[in-house]
Amino acid sequence: MMNRKIKIFLCFASVIVLSLSIASAYENAASFKSIGDNMPDNIHLSFKSDPSASMTIVWDTSIPAGSFVQYGMDQHYKMAAKGGKRSSLLHEVDLIGLESNTTYHYRCGSEDGWSQDHTFKTAPLEDDNISFIVMGDSRNDLGKLNFDGWKRVADAAASDDFDFTLFSGDMVFCGFNPLEWKAFFDSATMLMLKAPFMAVLGNHEFCSPLYFTLFATPDAKNKGWYSFNYGNVHVAVLNTETSLLTSIKPNLFPADMGPDSEQYRWLEDDLSNLPDDMWKVVVLHRPPYSCGKAHGDQTDVQPITELFDEHNVDLVFCGHDHGYQRSKPMVDGKVTEGKGTIYVISAGAGAPLYPLNEGDERLSYAKSCYHYTLVEVDGNVLTLRAKYPDGEVFDSLTLKRGS
Ligand SMILES: [Fe+2]
Ligand SMILES: [Fe+2]
Repeated sequence: MMNRKIKIFLCFASVIVLSLSIASAYENAASFKSIGDNMPDNIHLSFKSDPSASMTIVWDTSIPAGSFVQYGMDQHYKMAAKGGKRSSLLHEVDLIGLESNTTYHYRCGSEDGWSQDHTFKTAPLEDDNISFIVMGDSRNDLGKLNFDGWKRVADAAASDDFDFTLFSGDMVFCGFNPLEWKAFFDSATMLMLKAPFMAVLGNHEFCSPLYFTLFATPDAKNKGWYSFNYGNVHVAVLNTETSLLTSIKPNLFPADMGPDSEQYRWLEDDLSNLPDDMWKVVVLHRPPYSCGKAHGDQTDVQPITELFDEHNVDLVFCGHDHGYQRSKPMVDGKVTEGKGTIYVISAGAGAPLYPLNEGDERLSYAKSCYHYTLVEVDGNVLTLRAKYPDGEVFDSLTLKRGS
């Protein structure tokens, strides 16, 4: 097997070859699909602000084209919005002032070429049932543009009912490689069109500007961290890759996530003053605690878990150790008999699987398998189901508030 350091070196060599300019590289990749095609492609949804009142639509074209979205309650599209271009071929339009808990029809593009009719639904204001998918690690190995594993998991997830996807990072092997990003999106068309896709930075994104260009999030300053409320769920997304060097060698260049860090202070503020009846969910790439034999505990990430304990975070979702793990309730890094945070690693979206130390006493369940996780929230009851790509549930958990 190729040495990890050699892989990383080759990755950066490919960066030099592929992207003298990040933007133009993406445009070159876009032109691969078919010369002269100005039809919207790789359409994906996300939200940059309140998901009950806004939606952002991002797509690309192979030749320069306008950036418009027509939308409304039906296919007569009584409203329209114009967007900016993130590059000459990558388009982004923000829809604001939307009604909560409402399904909208839309099409994107311009008179040079419109997409088909698609729909999206805005978030409810409060206690309506909601559900979301959690998954991570879809990458293939260096230089491989075959994302068949990712496509299988993404298509399976897309067949479920859910309101948004949380993807915990490592979407591609090298975040600077525009060809991989194209393959990633091409393999997940159904998932991307179904509901907003909220991205998290993994080490394999290598802090690439392409990641921040392709995904619109509430993270306006490109810090890699952000949060949002969806119904009665608060989601905080963290960045374990606080520098390029951290992405390459975290044991030598630890993440800046200690009490004096900007991210720590941001999360402390973010988790303060949330209503007691709100579920608190954190998503990050490298797991503070893991029984994975490939990576294991990420000690540089652990300092920020103080805040999970202090603010009674219910669930922490991670990636990085390819496979599935669900911990027992934990406080201060140790299993507790009382109330604690449950750490779930849901990192089986197509990347090569890693072996796990299934005898780790912190575990409730672990399996090295391809899968996705579906979380359903019905007021004070939260149900988690981990599913194989064929839809079979192999692990489940129900949490009840007030018990
Ligand atoms: Fe990974
Ligand atoms: Fe990773």
